[in-house]
Amino acid sequence: MAVLIIFHLLAIFMPALGDAFIGVNIGTDVTNMPSPTEVVTLLKAQGIQHVRLYDADRAMLHALANTGIRVIVSVPNDQLLGIGQSNATAANWVARNIIAHVPATNITAIAVGSEVLTSLTNAAPVLVSALKFLQAALVAANLDQQIKVSTPHSSSVILDSFPPSQAFFNKTWDPVMVPLLKFLQSTGSYLMLNVYPYYDFMKPSAVIPLDYALFRPLPPNKEAIDSNTLLHYTNVFDAVVDAAYFAMSYLNFTNIPILVTESGWPSKGDSSEPDATIDNANTYNSNLIRHVLNNSGTPKQPGIAISTYIYELYNEDLRTGPVSENNWGLFYANGAPVYTLHLTNAGTVFANDTTNQTFCVAKSNADTKMLQAALDWACGPGKVDCSPLLQGQPCYDPNNVAAHATYAINAYYQQMAKSAGTCDFKGVASVTTTNPSHGSCIFPGSYGKNGSSINGTELAPSTNSTNSGCLSQYYNGGSLTSSLILTLILSVAVL
Ligand SMILES: *[C@@H]1O[C@H](CO)[C@@H](O)[C@H](O)[C@H]1NC(C)=O
Ligand SMILES: *[C@@H]1O[C@H](CO)[C@@H](O)[C@H](O)[C@H]1NC(C)=O
Ligand SMILES: *[C@@H]1O[C@H](CO)[C@@H](O)[C@H](O)[C@H]1NC(C)=O
Ligand SMILES: *[C@@H]1O[C@H](CO)[C@@H](O)[C@H](O)[C@H]1NC(C)=O
Ligand SMILES: *[C@@H]1O[C@H](CO)[C@@H](O)[C@H](O)[C@H]1NC(C)=O
Ligand SMILES: *[C@@H]1O[C@H](CO)[C@@H](O)[C@H](O)[C@H]1NC(C)=O
Ligand SMILES: *[C@@H]1O[C@H](CO)[C@@H](O)[C@H](O)[C@H]1NC(C)=O
Ligand SMILES: *[C@@H]1O[C@H](CO)[C@@H](O)[C@H](O)[C@H]1NC(C)=O
Ligand SMILES: *[C@@H]1O[C@H](CO)[C@@H](O)[C@H](O)[C@H]1NC(C)=O
Ligand SMILES: *[C@@H]1O[C@H](CO)[C@@H](O)[C@H](O)[C@H]1NC(C)=O
Repeated sequence: MAVLIIFHLLAIFMPALGDAFIGVNIGTDVTNMPSPTEVVTLLKAQGIQHVRLYDADRAMLHALANTGIRVIVSVPNDQLLGIGQSNATAANWVARNIIAHVPATNITAIAVGSEVLTSLTNAAPVLVSALKFLQAALVAANLDQQIKVSTPHSSSVILDSFPPSQAFFNKTWDPVMVPLLKFLQSTGSYLMLNVYPYYDFMKPSAVIPLDYALFRPLPPNKEAIDSNTLLHYTNVFDAVVDAAYFAMSYLNFTNIPILVTESGWPSKGDSSEPDATIDNANTYNSNLIRHVLNNSGTPKQPGIAISTYIYELYNEDLRTGPVSENNWGLFYANGAPVYTLHLTNAGTVFANDTTNQTFCVAKSNADTKMLQAALDWACGPGKVDCSPLLQGQPCYDPNNVAAHATYAINAYYQQMAKSAGTCDFKGVASVTTTNPSHGSCIFPGSYGKNGSSINGTELAPSTNSTNSGCLSQYYNGGSLTSSLILTLILSVAVL
């Protein structure tokens, strides 16, 4: 009965955001930033359904159209003052960056500025005006129900955050925070919060055990207990989120949900950052994903979804600062994973590509003519780089159609980011987890060799080129009628 009542109260006071989801931030300070099409190919291959952009890049929003992927767009800090000072500027921003893209692109929120109260304090006085002006423009376009307006905060605006029940927002900012929370409450929006247990752990004054930051199990006597509420905390993430709930309720706001707009762990650091390691980054992000998708909420708000955007998709090599600044990504710019997440039974996000390698190989009983056709198609219209198959190159031996076809169709499958239907070739190919690499012949898709890079892929192969593959002079094109090529193209394109 008590449980029922608690549940009932939560249901009244905390608007449900539905099931928790995992999203990913896409920073673009990358030397060889992949094209928007390549980014979207990677997102699809990884099952990533939610992203946040740090701007409202037109080409990126265009590439995300009709993909089903939900998008948070951002007003960059350098545009915030203009928008906060002029409702016309805000209306123009919405017209150009939102109305031009919906409904094809599913924009779900506008993140206005980034950590304004801690990194752009001169814009703080206009922050709430900016939110209100943008909201007014959304209302005028009848988009305010589907698109929420908020602003991501650094968790350092919360003071005395342990025990969470004593947390409060830095009072300097109450004149901004109170109207901001009123706005979020009245528009049904959420508090956007960046949660970095890594930085909490790194603070010289902190005495946080690494295991507590990484969601590793702690012995019961090491668990953190809030002596006011008697709630047990098994990880820093939950404690920070609960501190934010308590800081809001200290100002009498008890029904604003929280969206974690950034969280992550760097995989590499300099000598002063010894805990920025691949193992720790993998442990943190894998456990974070499992924790969020489990929908267990936090000790203060059990069962209330805390959807979270991982920081971040790519390593950003152009960011300045300590080495860790360049190493928050899950992927290199070429699409190769930085590490293999441990996500068994964690649902469908990142479930396939980064847990187990898969390859596309010729079936053992496949008809040689069909394999020849598949080989010619992959090296020709399929645009695979088949040069490793040339005489004197690493994959020339064994010099037979089945071996060469396996190399080429696997390269195509990897190039297409393993999308459904790209390992079929009229039934002669199948997916395997056994790495077919041999000797110095490294198959694309082999981890550690950066083989799963995606480059210039088109999801539907062009039907323009029905001949003249790069290797057609080496492989007997005579057995290949153009209608067979066309059939293969269609079967790949349709599947
Ligand atoms: C992973 O594979 C399973 C089964 O093959 C499939 O149902 C699921 O959608 C895939 N997930 C992703 C993210 O591709
Ligand atoms: C901006 O505000 C002024 C005065 O409050 C109002 O008259 C005008 O309609 C607003 N413009 C837009 C684009 O909302
Ligand atoms: C857009 O995203 C929202 C929120 O996830 C979802 O409810 C809606 O169905 C999506 N719309 C389309 C057209 O996919
Ligand atoms: C509160 O915010 C003000 C203004 O940014 C800052 O100067 C001050 O150091 C903050 N207080 C704490 C305890 O961090
Ligand atoms: C919160 O509400 C209580 C009780 O109504 C009131 O005493 C208190 O002043 C309020 N605090 C703020 C910050 O508004
Ligand atoms: C998942 O949630 C259940 C109950 O909500 C909880 O007992 C379990 O410990 C959670 N697992 C993880 C990995 O958080
Ligand atoms: C990954 O491979 C391991 C062992 O080969 C297997 O037990 C596990 O089910 C695989 N995971 C996925 C998501 O395919
Ligand atoms: C993968 O590629 C990235 C960047 O291109 C490089 O820094 C990294 O060392 C490569 N990893 C391996 C194992 O080759
Ligand atoms: C992508 O393709 C271009 C041209 O085909 C090539 O120059 C470049 O090296 C490729 N990049 C990667 C990461 O494979
Ligand atoms: C295909 O052919 C059309 C018409 O000739 C041309 O406009 C288009 O650029 C070609 N596409 C490719 C990928 O070559």
